[in-house]
Amino acid sequence: MMEMCSFKSLALAILIALFVWSSSFETLCSGREMKVRYTPDSMYNSYQPYESVMTTASFNVLNFGAKGDGQTDDTKAFGEAWEAACKVEASIMVVPNGVFLVGPITFGPDCQPNIVFQLDGKIIAPTSSNAWGSGLLQWLEFKNLKGITVKGAGIIDGQGSVWWNDLAKYLPTDASMSYEDSKMPSTKPTVLRFYGSEGVTVTGITIQNSPQTHLKFDTCKTVQVSSFTTSSPGDSPNTDGIHVQNSQDVLIYSSNLACGDDCVSIQAGCSNIYIHDVKCGPGHGISIGGLGKDGSKACVSNITVRNVAMQNTLTGVRIKTWQGGSGSVQQVMFSNIQVSDVKTPIMIDQFYCDKGKCQNKSSAVSISDINYVNIQGTYTQTPVYFACSDSLPCTGVSLTTIALKPSEGYQQPFCWEAYGELKTSTEPPISCLKTGAPSKSNVPYSRDSC
Ligand SMILES: *[C@@H]1O[C@H](CO)[C@@H](O)[C@H](O)[C@H]1NC(C)=O
Ligand SMILES: *[C@@H]1O[C@H](CO)[C@@H](O)[C@H](O)[C@H]1NC(C)=O
Repeated sequence: MMEMCSFKSLALAILIALFVWSSSFETLCSGREMKVRYTPDSMYNSYQPYESVMTTASFNVLNFGAKGDGQTDDTKAFGEAWEAACKVEASIMVVPNGVFLVGPITFGPDCQPNIVFQLDGKIIAPTSSNAWGSGLLQWLEFKNLKGITVKGAGIIDGQGSVWWNDLAKYLPTDASMSYEDSKMPSTKPTVLRFYGSEGVTVTGITIQNSPQTHLKFDTCKTVQVSSFTTSSPGDSPNTDGIHVQNSQDVLIYSSNLACGDDCVSIQAGCSNIYIHDVKCGPGHGISIGGLGKDGSKACVSNITVRNVAMQNTLTGVRIKTWQGGSGSVQQVMFSNIQVSDVKTPIMIDQFYCDKGKCQNKSSAVSISDINYVNIQGTYTQTPVYFACSDSLPCTGVSLTTIALKPSEGYQQPFCWEAYGELKTSTEPPISCLKTGAPSKSNVPYSRDSC
């Protein structure tokens, strides 16, 4: 009797313990578990992929009716495959070998986190004007996602030549098209854009023949781009390689960028950007700006560009701002930049103007703490060009170990209102840099705090 009783109470105790344990498990895992894991102040506090005990859910576009024959419009299949992947945390949307013709499409918002877009095949853009309506800012877009990875050895081809050549734009590309059909809209799309996302990874893929920018990040946090390739002709207009805007904590490395405009363009609202081990060319170099257009305020800080090889580019490392803006560019480091036949390897231009003539204005985006270390190689026009604002001169420009030789022609280094320091002797000598700081009375405009 006694034994039976104690057995009963033991069983009861185990039951109670089980209940307590399972209900605490419930609170952790029930209902909104996916969201809980990605609340920044939760115990997980990161966007590292969550090691799921379930087998990964995989959604292959072929199972959603995609043909991959390069002719059939696979947009709908891509949309449906994404819709399925969107509902499952850490799922994979698979684009296998094949050539997939896909029209403009947006992936997201309101999806589970850590989705992988696995690109093994090739995605091509439509070349008929009716696919683009009156013009779109992007072709493939990932929007408002947490933890999104695009990876694989695949290719995204923007088929940009129909957009680049103004003449081709007005010539029907096949007999069935009318004159009007063949005319592409004047707004050219970016190939791949990430917007409002956190924890973004792009690795392995190639984007080629972009109508405009190849890869764009806008309003994103914690971005990694690696083993990434862009390939568009040097004379394709406005085809930036990677365009980063209003984004923080961006790492770009081990990538090969050939395009017709800036290999990397860093825009307003960017901070903590680190670019290293990148090849650039053809293209226009790596640029911060143009900032401050139409009187806008731009804040850019903590930018590091290291171990970059540039070949046949328009500029090497450049900061460009429009007159009339406000804000600042601060804390910039360009180091170990190897240039080969670059027109102007080192450039600051506070009089940037891409439409012939711009009015002189006295306000400016201020530029300070800009460091150049170990910039070497050959140039074809001007080795160093610093054109700074009269009302807000550049300050804290420092140059260390500069060795630039002309491969044709030769112009002297140029400086206007640039203050800073030569930490070593330079080749060629840069005698135009002013030492110290501009006197306060010469600077009527206060620097904007950012
Ligand atoms: C500058 O950016 C790097 C990443 O490139 C980051 O590790 C570092 O903490 C940032 N520094 C400051 C002062 O924010
Ligand atoms: C603007 O200012 C620059 C430098 O001070 C000067 O060379 C140029 O002539 C000015 N342009 C106009 C349109 O006033």
